[in-house]
Amino acid sequence: MTRLAAAILVVLLPLPLLLSAVVGAAAFPRGGGFGFEATLRHVDADAGYTKAELLARAVSRSRARAATLQSLAALAPGDAITAVRILVRASDGEYLMDMGIGTPPRYYSAILDTGSDLIWTQCAPCLLCVDQPTPYYDPTQSPTYRAIGCSSPVCNALYYPLCFQKVCVYQYFYGDSASTAGVLANETFTFGTNATRVTVPSISFGCGNLNAGSLANGSGMVGFGRGSLSLVSQLGSPRFSYCLTSFLSKVPSRLYFGAYATLNSTNASTSGPVQSTPFVVNPALPTMYFLNLTGISVGGVLLPIDPAVFAINDTDGTGGTIIDSGTTITYLAEPAYGAVRAAFVSQIKLPLLNVTDASVLDTCFKWPPPPRQSLTLPQVVFHFDGADMELPLPNYMLVEPMSGGLCLAMATSSDGSIIGNFQHQNFHVLYDLENSLLSFVPAPCNLI
Ligand SMILES: *[C@@H]1O[C@H](CO)[C@@H](O)[C@H](O)[C@H]1NC(C)=O
Ligand SMILES: *[C@@H]1O[C@H](CO)[C@@H](O)[C@H](O)[C@H]1NC(C)=O
Ligand SMILES: *[C@@H]1O[C@H](CO)[C@@H](O)[C@H](O)[C@H]1NC(C)=O
Ligand SMILES: *[C@@H]1O[C@H](CO)[C@@H](O)[C@H](O)[C@H]1NC(C)=O
Ligand SMILES: *[C@@H]1O[C@H](CO)[C@@H](O)[C@H](O)[C@H]1NC(C)=O
Ligand SMILES: *[C@@H]1O[C@H](CO)[C@@H](O)[C@H](O)[C@H]1NC(C)=O
Ligand SMILES: *[C@@H]1O[C@H](CO)[C@@H](O)[C@H](O)[C@H]1NC(C)=O
Ligand SMILES: *[C@@H]1O[C@H](CO)[C@@H](O)[C@H](O)[C@H]1NC(C)=O
Repeated sequence: MTRLAAAILVVLLPLPLLLSAVVGAAAFPRGGGFGFEATLRHVDADAGYTKAELLARAVSRSRARAATLQSLAALAPGDAITAVRILVRASDGEYLMDMGIGTPPRYYSAILDTGSDLIWTQCAPCLLCVDQPTPYYDPTQSPTYRAIGCSSPVCNALYYPLCFQKVCVYQYFYGDSASTAGVLANETFTFGTNATRVTVPSISFGCGNLNAGSLANGSGMVGFGRGSLSLVSQLGSPRFSYCLTSFLSKVPSRLYFGAYATLNSTNASTSGPVQSTPFVVNPALPTMYFLNLTGISVGGVLLPIDPAVFAINDTDGTGGTIIDSGTTITYLAEPAYGAVRAAFVSQIKLPLLNVTDASVLDTCFKWPPPPRQSLTLPQVVFHFDGADMELPLPNYMLVEPMSGGLCLAMATSSDGSIIGNFQHQNFHVLYDLENSLLSFVPAPCNLI
């Protein structure tokens, strides 16, 4: 083990970039009727935070996450491999998904991340690990564990594969100082609630012996990105969906895979029609789910924003708009944010608050309004190519705990735009990978 440790420590130092072949969609289809339903817990659930603390924590995590995501494309202009090798911060996940690993299954919670691909957990013997709530997974206790050989296509699907004593070694860096390194292995995983439990053999995952950073009360991460090593790709599932309950609700959110991921159980006559918009591929960041945002309306007025503000720069891959499970509030490219802010300031008849530089949210109004003043808050619609997302009020206005003001739950970005999860509370959101479409419909997520 010490020699492996030495080898991994060596590779954790910056090395010249190795251009390895990136295999295409190495999907392992699991059959048409396959599917399950799982529970998503918010990272701060059950920790006894007040509503104000929950909001403050989420907004501050959001800022760190957005900063990292935005640095990705800019870090390595045109070099997709470098950009993807440096991922998002491990500590900034928002939702945890329970799964069982090994035989018999040992359950742990992993941070769901639509911005990365690898599935990994901390493994015994642990050379360097961060705090986690469950014991480390121990490969010697599970007869279904198989280390993957260096010549395996699965090994070559890593952006940065390494070989140690014929065993495939992975290393993943996240945007902050967080990282994980260890053996790439296959194992049997168990997913789903009791009623929809499925056991899936030969899921490739990272068994991390050297980990740094924070796991926010999880014991690993589960990548839901578009690359071949993500859970989504390995299950060969044509679609997945989630329905996020209100941010302040105690009711857990739901995740659906395969046959369970469908929007046609929601009652369109009460919640409105299902809307669909195509995913866009950004070759510089192929893992992420880019959308084609074309405009924004505030109070029924389409804002004068040049659509180029939302476009991906073909030369260096910067810009564009992603939908991301790990960012709370929405970030808009600067000119678009400026237009939204100006519309709010002109349409809301309340004094604007001066906020400090440290505050993430800066479109804030004096709250509460004077007695008997009637107040109309403008409606917000995101226009995507082929779909309009009309936001319910609690998805874009919040009372910010520090200033006590009523704030727009959006912030400015110097690079691309990010549609955060605060904006799709009580939407059932379907990632239809087969047809490359994102679909959504308003839904009472605490009831379904
Ligand atoms: C983890 O959860 C516990 C309670 O469940 C809470 O006290 C603690 O602050 C949480 N830690 C992190 C890093 O979120
Ligand atoms: C690991 O799983 C993948 C996908 O099921 C399979 O192609 C590969 O042969 C497996 N490798 C080992 C060593 O079991
Ligand atoms: C699932 O099954 C386990 C063991 O059979 C049981 O302890 C647990 O309470 C069940 N969970 C739910 C939500 O029914
Ligand atoms: C529900 O949706 C699925 C796929 O999205 C489709 O195949 C199926 O026919 C639909 N079922 C009904 C009853 O409309
Ligand atoms: C949908 O909602 C409408 C209005 O509440 C109701 O009349 C209709 O029966 C519902 N349809 C289904 C399939 O539940
Ligand atoms: C796109 O990126 C290139 C290289 O960084 C830059 O020179 C160019 O100005 C960018 N184009 C736009 C429209 O921002
Ligand atoms: C906000 O700051 C500006 C400039 O510093 C100042 O002129 C204005 O009076 C301040 N407004 C309030 C409500 O404090
Ligand atoms: C985005 O949508 C607009 C309007 O439908 C369309 O003209 C444009 O080509 C789309 N851009 C991409 C990159 O798909």
